[in-house]
Amino acid sequence: MNHLRLADIIDQPKINETVTVKGWVKTFRANRFIALNDGSTIDNLQCVVDYENTDAQLLKKINTGAAVEITGQLVESMGKGQSIEIIVSHLVVVGEADPDLYPIQPKKHSFEFLREKAHLRVRTATFSAVMRIRSVLSFAIHQFFNQKGFCYVHTPIITGSDAEGAGEMFRVSVLDPKNMPLDDEGNIDYKKDFFGKETNLTVSGQLESETYAQGLGNVYTFGPTFRAENSNTSRHLAEFWMIEPEMAFYDLTDNMDLAEEFIKYTLQHILDHCKKDLAFLDQRLTQEEKSLPQQQRSPMGLVEKIKFVVENEFKRVSYTEAIEILKNSKPNKKKKFDYLVEEWGTDLQSEHERYLVEKHFNAPVILFDYPAKIKAFYMRMNEDKKTVRAMDILFPGIGEIVGGSQREERLEVLEKRIEEMGIDADELWWYLDLRRFGSTPHSGFGLGFERLVLFATGMSNIRDVIPFPRTPQNAAF
Ligand code: 4AD
Ligand code: MG
Repeated sequence: MNHLRLADIIDQPKINETVTVKGWVKTFRANRFIALNDGSTIDNLQCVVDYENTDAQLLKKINTGAAVEITGQLVESMGKGQSIEIIVSHLVVVGEADPDLYPIQPKKHSFEFLREKAHLRVRTATFSAVMRIRSVLSFAIHQFFNQKGFCYVHTPIITGSDAEGAGEMFRVSVLDPKNMPLDDEGNIDYKKDFFGKETNLTVSGQLESETYAQGLGNVYTFGPTFRAENSNTSRHLAEFWMIEPEMAFYDLTDNMDLAEEFIKYTLQHILDHCKKDLAFLDQRLTQEEKSLPQQQRSPMGLVEKIKFVVENEFKRVSYTEAIEILKNSKPNKKKKFDYLVEEWGTDLQSEHERYLVEKHFNAPVILFDYPAKIKAFYMRMNEDKKTVRAMDILFPGIGEIVGGSQREERLEVLEKRIEEMGIDADELWWYLDLRRFGSTPHSGFGLGFERLVLFATGMSNIRDVIPFPRTPQNAAF
């Protein structure tokens, strides 16, 4: 490889050296100035073409979107807007882009339009910045757990159990839908299917992570998870990535401490390593919000908001306290909430979560000790027999970003819960075995990766922080 990355050239320019660069043309102005980008940085590099001595046919091929290879001398720029530029001595158009057909022209495109062009949208400044931050964040996540001695486990994608007990799963089957084998009772006979039983794409790697924590101590999994819930919102995907640590001998407080430290570490990491991309996205957000009425604009800029989260303690509040706050809140009394908060035991809607975070506490909030009725079967029952040791972390602009709990480690209590909730205990025999042999108090949580990327980039729709979003009625690309 004989060419250099723009990121390296721009960060440490070697003035007067001759360099070769390769990338895509962002714009070509006055038959003279190419703004080049190769994806390694948000910055474009200006390349100055000597058009009088360049073949006219070649000049015609230098269009937005074309791939080019350029060699020339790096000099200090006289023009405004950049400190260095390349004086082109050799230029090859490696791949042309017909200006009448190439959809990503140098003008403002809506995110809706760009979702239709998801295979090309990473060539825009915004999407390249978002995807670089996404990459750095995932690296930081592995680094955090690695430094703490956690073992990275790869939990299965295809499972026979429903970890969340919500039944919102995608079936995995090789049976012919036009000719389903039936058993004596007329039900589909999954014994004839590939695995000899009903299987699905996993909604969570938690249950398998728990088994590994009960042998390796501290583990985490970071992989794709799938939910067939018909939630067409800016916060839900049918396929998303989740980070799920699981720790033997951790109680709920240890769990909350780890989750808070973890989130702050990853955000600090991008503050340190993604300065230019964050500055760009910060500016983008400010610009975009200019068209909104004052009350709807974010009170803080993007970088300021990330720093605020890193530097301040998350507020820890029980579900019961939160319900009291919400009951007595102005929007509840004035009937401004779509769902009024009336009694203890109801699930919180995102409008309630956002009120707590954005209006009442003005900080990320960890809500804990939820009613058992609205939480999954595996959470540890409290003494009051009404609440479980659950915790959710709520973020400004996002709502729930983490869901976790201390797990029920007592065999009889867990068996009773499974029965009460009508779950098939036979499917969970191995999970129950963990409570039979060397059971420990243990805890874990799941962080929705795309929700973290949403927060870190200031984007407003989850479809714009994953390369190819899967949502109801949409699995293009
Ligand atoms: O709260 P959830 O459902 O928790 C679990 O799955 C537990 N098994 C995790 C654990 O304790 N190991 O999901 C965890 C997080 C949510 O807080 C949210 O951030 C994200 O996953 N999430 C989604 N993100 C995008 N699209 C969806 N449809 C999501 N559903 C959950
Ligand atoms: Mg949850």
